[in-house]
This record gives sequence, structure tokens and C-alpha cells, in this order.
Amino acid sequence: MHVHRYERIWIAFGVIMLVVFLSAIAFASVADNINPPSGMQTIDPTKVAQTPPFDHPGLRKIGDGRYEAYYVAQVFQFTPSDLKIPVNSTVSFYVTSPDVVHGFFIPNTDVNMMVIPGWVNTSTHTFTKRGTYLLICHEYCGIGHQNMFGKIEVQ
Ligand code: CUA
Repeated sequence: MHVHRYERIWIAFGVIMLVVFLSAIAFASVADNINPPSGMQTIDPTKVAQTPPFDHPGLRKIGDGRYEAYYVAQVFQFTPSDLKIPVNSTVSFYVTSPDVVHGFFIPNTDVNMMVIPGWVNTSTHTFTKRGTYLLICHEYCGIGHQNMFGKIEVQ
């Protein structure tokens, strides 16, 4: 079968680009350890209110200046809505949703997550500046989406 020269060039180009893109993904995954966040932690979204520790959302002290904060995001609020922590605390946020997809974003930090029913997402941040941080939902989740926010007071 005769394949035209230009056709061969295009086929080679397609194959080379495929190899380049797959290599970039493999490199990011292995060398930079970029992987889907918290791919392993799941929860039954219909039983969030009965599943520890999400049955009592809030702050847990786990060590000197180390905290875990468990959040439930649901239409249209975060629980807890107001968190108070001492300055220089390192907080690991764990968040899940019993209803629809929400966002969990704290501006001026690197905490920026999607909250997906059935999954627990997590992110850790050290708060080195005093002040009130906003916590906002940045995934459109319904008619009250723009009212879905909380705050974190670093004292
Ligand atoms: Cu929750 Cu938007």
C-alpha cells in the first residue's frame, strides 16, 4: 500500500506528540509527585453526618502547633463556619460533601480544593500571619452558591 509522503509525516507527527504528552504526564507523576489529591480516602455521602470524624466537624489539636480541621461543605454553608487558630499553626484541612460538588478555597494561601461527594479531600497550610481569612466555595453549587463562605481567624 502506498502512503503519501505528507501522510507519513502527519502520522509520525501524531505519534511523536502522543509520546511527548504521555511522557510529560509520567514525568509529572513520578518526578514531581503530582497526583490526584487524596485519591484513596472515600466516604459514603449519604452517611456523612454519622461517619466520624465528620459527625463532629471542627478543629482537633494533634500536636504542638499542629491541627486537623474537619469540614462538611453542603448547600450552602461550611461547618464549621468560623475557625479560630493561633498564629503559626499548621492546619490539615479535611473536607467532604454530602450533596453536590463544592469548592474549598482560602484566598492568599495554597488551600484550593474541590469537594466531591464520596471523597475526602485534604490540604495543609501553615498560617504565619494574624488576621481573618475568608473561606469560599468556588464551584457553582446552586442558587445560594454566592452565600457559601466561612472564615478562619488567626490570632
Ligand atoms: Cu458550595 Cu458553591
